[in-house]
Amino acid sequence: MADKAKKPNNQNTAAQPAAKPIKITETILRDAHQSLIATRMSTEQMLPIVEKLDKVGYHSVECWGGATFDASLRFLKEDPWDRLRKLRDGFKNTKLQMLFRGQNILGYRPYADDVVEYFVQKSAANGIDIIRIFDCLNDLRNLQTAVTAANKEKVHAQVAMSYTLGSAYTLEYWVDLAKRIEEMGADSICIKDMAGLLLPYQATELVTALKGAVKIPIQLHTHYTSGVASMTYLKAVEAGVDVIDTAMSPFALGTSQPATEVMVETFKGTPYDTGFDSQLLDEIADYFRPMRDEALESGLLNPKNMGVNIKTLLYQVPGGMLSNLTSQLKDMHAEDKYYEVLEEVPKVRKDLGEPPLVTPSSQIVGTQAVMNIVGGERYKMVTKETKDILSGKYGATVKPFNEEVKKKCIGDAETITCRPADLIPDELDTLRSEMAQWSEQDEDVLSYALFPQVAVDFFKYRQAQEQKVDPTLADEKNKAYPA
Ligand code: CO
Repeated sequence: MADKAKKPNNQNTAAQPAAKPIKITETILRDAHQSLIATRMSTEQMLPIVEKLDKVGYHSVECWGGATFDASLRFLKEDPWDRLRKLRDGFKNTKLQMLFRGQNILGYRPYADDVVEYFVQKSAANGIDIIRIFDCLNDLRNLQTAVTAANKEKVHAQVAMSYTLGSAYTLEYWVDLAKRIEEMGADSICIKDMAGLLLPYQATELVTALKGAVKIPIQLHTHYTSGVASMTYLKAVEAGVDVIDTAMSPFALGTSQPATEVMVETFKGTPYDTGFDSQLLDEIADYFRPMRDEALESGLLNPKNMGVNIKTLLYQVPGGMLSNLTSQLKDMHAEDKYYEVLEEVPKVRKDLGEPPLVTPSSQIVGTQAVMNIVGGERYKMVTKETKDILSGKYGATVKPFNEEVKKKCIGDAETITCRPADLIPDELDTLRSEMAQWSEQDEDVLSYALFPQVAVDFFKYRQAQEQKVDPTLADEKNKAYPA
């Protein structure tokens, strides 16, 4: 390093981070298509390119969890567990990573501890190496069960801090949170910037502070939505961040991540050089490009989500939420209300204790904002989830609720302050008996736990398919699992 000689020989001086190759998590099989094409990439579309992806040398490939589970069952009529096993078969050298919503697992409400533990156990058993666990309120009580379960299964437990802006979210807040995450048994920390709010120079400040406060690795996850993401990565890497999340260029930028190839080229010949083979990356991009063209043609990929949306910095709305709002309003024939709803989002957020906007708080705030605008009066129509958040059922928010709004929504109903899952009795046995007739593998009860109706529809579909293929086999199965 050129400036090494200039550095004073003083142990107390904050040292420049030692430059080392930057590690990369590839998101094309999870976040990239979740952010751009409503999570519609199928297993069949993924498998032919796995062998090449496996040769790149990624730190990990994020390929499961988040919305992929729901979308597989609901729209693609695929078993998500089967996808995971097939990916595991294909990736011989690369760690597989998933996104996990803390006590909400991959669903939209808090589950009992026994379901969380079993889900972590089965994720590990089917091939997951790294579980990125987050909570939409950064209430660490909602993460403890999943972290402890991951420790027990000997998979890497990464705890993500849901990054957001607001008066409560100071540098001290993040440093304190990071220290508590390290203490709770996490193997690494992710700064999860789902809306692309982290600006380049703030990244320097944040990463430097975190690297000085904890010993475990720091990973940065951001979205291109506001257009600053690749600059943010550059500054974060210079400040010593260990891993960054990128997506192959055909499904990069816009509401997705910065492009893998661009970051690889950026660091070439520097101490941060990934050493990746650009030719190989180019071949992988060639594979995905027709998929992108097709999505553009069919309308699945909305050009609105591709450009720079600087409004995301003003409204702090994550990319996935932007595309959800677009389709929600389209369904209600109220597309003209788009910007009105966007302006309502930060107001609702403030009323609800200024939480970060990430699943499920993003859906709760987004849907309530739509209702407030389309309904013509604020909080005239209130969702069950809005009431639950105000009752403390999702955990503690950093800021207090708007008392007036709380009164209008839940009146004098009792609120809770304990860890929400403490009030949820074990659920697995009940769930197992409810869905016994459909069970073909241990994991089915977990699909059912998360999305009861959608899972049963899928089980019916699966049974019909099997009967089509081999009627005797289906008969055998029915015998083995009497209703
Ligand atoms: Co993301």
